[in-house]
Amino acid sequence: MSSSGKYQVYVTRSDMPQCGIELLKKQCDLKVWEQASPCPRQELLKHVAGANGIYCSLTDKIDKELLDAAGAGLKVVATISVGHDHIDVQECKKRGIRIGYTPDVLTDATAELTLALLLSTSRRLPEAQNEARTGGWVSWAPTWMTGPGLAGATVGIVGFGRIGQAVARRVKSFNTAKIIYFNRSARPEAEEVGAIKVTFDEILTQSDFVICCCALVPETKEIFNKTAFEKMKRTAIFVNTSRGGTVDQDALIEALQNNTIRAAGLDVTTPEPLPLDSPLFKLKNCIVLPHIGSASIEARNTMSELTAQNILAALNDTKMPAELK
Ligand code: DGY
Repeated sequence: MSSSGKYQVYVTRSDMPQCGIELLKKQCDLKVWEQASPCPRQELLKHVAGANGIYCSLTDKIDKELLDAAGAGLKVVATISVGHDHIDVQECKKRGIRIGYTPDVLTDATAELTLALLLSTSRRLPEAQNEARTGGWVSWAPTWMTGPGLAGATVGIVGFGRIGQAVARRVKSFNTAKIIYFNRSARPEAEEVGAIKVTFDEILTQSDFVICCCALVPETKEIFNKTAFEKMKRTAIFVNTSRGGTVDQDALIEALQNNTIRAAGLDVTTPEPLPLDSPLFKLKNCIVLPHIGSASIEARNTMSELTAQNILAALNDTKMPAELK
């Protein structure tokens, strides 16, 4: 607690959506990293000292060293993300530190972006716009700028949680022939869209579009590797809106360069930001977005409010609206 008798919360960047920050201000003393960019590690270690709560994002590594730096008064870490691979969950649990995250509230935004990326990649929108702007548009042409449609296609979704299911519902409305999914356990929700559970290999060999929506955990680290890309159809389109770590990026670059697969649409990469000299930026058959899956105004505001509510609930020893168990 601070000298004012209020809990101290550290906010790791200055541009968190204000609605959540305002909620916290009413009850807590806030210290905020003054820049709209990730707080450098050494600064973060210094600034979290004495905090009872940390409001962080996926760019902040919350590990043993950081928890030690915060000290024994730390009760809660709340991240403005559904992904929590940046948090050492076991270490937090060991110390009785509660973890807040933001499931559900970004599902629609992320599913929308996944569809946007899928269509932009298959119908080559950035390439087409560039042609129109730079004089490549000489006349309407029957085979120019063509790409595969979703109607009649088989779509494979890896990870059939909230976001995978929301993607499936949207994809179905494009008159796809078949939706298949790969998930640890069968999901009853699949029935609603007629999605069929298959093996990972079946996803690879049968899908015209392969969409990665799974969390990054040890079992999914680089599941999309050289062998996986080689099993895909040569006409397949790969889309990733989960985490860059699910992909062996060198293998993907090779697959795109050699036309082992047709194209890829990536909202996530390794590392982030992706260095400007990455071969991915040079490939016409690859679209790279800067991790904007949840970046609808509504989703980001709700995520910020939920992050604040998680912190307040944990500090008051009550039920958190979204606690990572
Ligand atoms: C998440 O929440 O994990 C997304 O990747 C960013 O919003």
